Amino acid sequence: MDDFRLRFGKRELVPIMIGGMGVDISTAELALEAARLGGIGHISDAMLPTVSDRRYQTSFVKDKLRQYKYNVPNSDKSEVKFNLGQLEEATRLHVSRTMAAKQGEGMVFINCMEKLTMNAPRETIKARLSAALDAGIDGITLAAGLHLGSLALIEDHPRFRDAKIGIIVSSLRALQLFIRKSSRTSRLPDYVVVEGPLAGGHLGFGLDDWMQYDLATIVAEISAWLKAEQLDIPIIPAGGIFTGTDAVHFLENGAAAVQVATRFTVTQECGLPDLVKQEYFKASEDDIEVNGISPTGYPMRMIKGSPGIGAGTHPNCESFGYLLDANGRCAYIDAYNREVAVHPESKKVKVLDKTCLCTTMRNFDIWTCGHYTYRLKDTSRKEENGSYRLLSAEHVFKDYQYSKDDKIALP
Ligand SMILES: Cc1cc2nc3c(=O)[nH]c(=O)nc-3n(C[C@H](O)[C@H](O)[C@H](O)COP(=O)(O)O)c2cc1C
Repeated sequence: MDDFRLRFGKRELVPIMIGGMGVDISTAELALEAARLGGIGHISDAMLPTVSDRRYQTSFVKDKLRQYKYNVPNSDKSEVKFNLGQLEEATRLHVSRTMAAKQGEGMVFINCMEKLTMNAPRETIKARLSAALDAGIDGITLAAGLHLGSLALIEDHPRFRDAKIGIIVSSLRALQLFIRKSSRTSRLPDYVVVEGPLAGGHLGFGLDDWMQYDLATIVAEISAWLKAEQLDIPIIPAGGIFTGTDAVHFLENGAAAVQVATRFTVTQECGLPDLVKQEYFKASEDDIEVNGISPTGYPMRMIKGSPGIGAGTHPNCESFGYLLDANGRCAYIDAYNREVAVHPESKKVKVLDKTCLCTTMRNFDIWTCGHYTYRLKDTSRKEENGSYRLLSAEHVFKDYQYSKDDKIALP
């Protein structure tokens, strides 16, 4: 991969971008390593108030719960609003601390998911995007949604044309819609991440048809269309690019860089607890599934043994509430209430079809992962006690950058 460079104007970067992984799985430490090594790292803007409490000893979650405690027994969550000033403060804190620690020639971006509708979709995403720009983020990757109105919300920000802004799409149609709808801001995306069906996190495909799609085909379609429209936008494929050689195949076919994530879930810098990283190492192909338990409505890939599956968590929207839609609803609340109605005497219910994604992602109890997680065991050494050796982000980054012939360097 080192024969290639990602060009942004005059800037040249190693063409490796570590994808955003919420909630604080792609930590500042991980993103900063990518930047130090000359590539691009992502922090995530998912649930930043709780991330800030954990990292910087703030009390955003406690304050919100105190304000809305009276509403905990109610299934109507429409009153449980985020305080926009606090949301901005949490975002500015995380972004500014991260940017202050940045070294090297690379860049740090933030992954911003539209599906975090937060009981006021427009206002909250505007607050998150503007605060990240205020705090000096190098770029924003718009994710988990079509983002048809997102650019217009920040077009008056002084950094709107100076920060890099890209979008993740899984189809040509999604990209066409985004470009058409944001054309009135006269700002094209600076890059497009094309995410195929083997990625981790939420998928932009159907639960029953994701396996019929293939990343290389979607990349080829998008690149042909951009050429026909004479649009010069760097394409960054993502999803299942496991080795430097896999990446080179895309770079040789015209991709500007690749976005990767799964290989970095077993690094020291990754935010998952160490015991969970061992579960990623150990997973076999049969241990991984794509299911419909995310209340967002998008399919999600995860390890079947994730403790958050079927947990039956009491909804925690007064503390969290990141997936409440514009009317204060979340598919998990409906599923939870249905089970409570069926089992009125039970103290604790099981909810199998949906999960309280805020609580379970916050607690690292949903182990979302890429399709090739079952190959992670081939990227490290097994210690005498049976556990796998954690890797450094630098080791994995350089393995992508310098390895050849489908080889993977062991630590
Ligand atoms: C643990 C994990 C969490 C993820 N979380 C997010 C996320 O919050 N937002 C997002 O846009 N993509 C997310 N992704 C997708 C990655 O950013 C990336 O595009 C994709 O996983 C790349 O494929 P790979 O994992 O096969 O390298 C996540 C991936 C993983 C493995």
